[in-house]
Amino acid sequence: MSVIGDTKLEALLAGLHARSDAQAAAMRAFDADRTGQAQPPSPKEARAFLSDKLVALDPDKAELCYQLCRASNARRIVEIGTSYGVSTLYLAAAIRDNVRTGGGDGRVIGTEYEPNKAAAARAHFEQAGLGRFVDLREGDLRQTLKEIDGPVDFMLMDIWITMARPALELVTPHLRPGAIVMTDNTRQYRGEYAEYFAFLDAQGFRTMTLPFDGGLEMSVR
Ligand SMILES: C[S@@+](CC[C@H](N)C(=O)[O-])C[C@H]1O[C@@H](n2cnc3c(N)ncnc32)[C@H](O)[C@@H]1O
Repeated sequence: MSVIGDTKLEALLAGLHARSDAQAAAMRAFDADRTGQAQPPSPKEARAFLSDKLVALDPDKAELCYQLCRASNARRIVEIGTSYGVSTLYLAAAIRDNVRTGGGDGRVIGTEYEPNKAAAARAHFEQAGLGRFVDLREGDLRQTLKEIDGPVDFMLMDIWITMARPALELVTPHLRPGAIVMTDNTRQYRGEYAEYFAFLDAQGFRTMTLPFDGGLEMSVR
């Protein structure tokens, strides 16, 4: 049973998670090639392969994000890596539910540079009736996140790892004291995240790796 409490949204999410899971074997093979081959795929080949992959955040991690956003009454959320919009739907549902109970307004700022993924994500937001809670910024996040108005309560980092530190550098000045940053797969890819952790440390974040599959980092500003 999901914490979301919205049967229509849960049905949409179940279908999207199933589509993402169906691509998992191809993703694992790609990852093995990427890290093990004498000649790994070029950046162009990698982008072409990944351009139709959902790579959705696992449901338990996404539900934890929903819960944390509800508990902290988050109103401005930044999501680094939107893809087809799976995790965005959880975050937007949290804002909708915060607005329902407390009034006011809120938005998830999403980021996606593949046009086909951004279009699919927008369709999913509309299908779920959550479009008005999402500001999806299409293009490279190093450009699209240059402007963020107002304090950010919560951030989800679910992106190719080389982009994690540049994204955190852009958003950190906007994070309110006590803001939460959740980052996927930090135990599995600890080495690749070295620069990211160095920045967290330099900025004085308190951080811990939660025991989810691959590790889920919870950092507090
Ligand atoms: C792991 S997926 C995100 C999955 C999503 N959070 C979900 O749960 O459905 C990462 C996404 O980031 C996008 N991406 C990668 N580099 C980017 C960049 N520099 N700017 C914007 N989007 C980028 C990829 O196209 C990919 O769809």
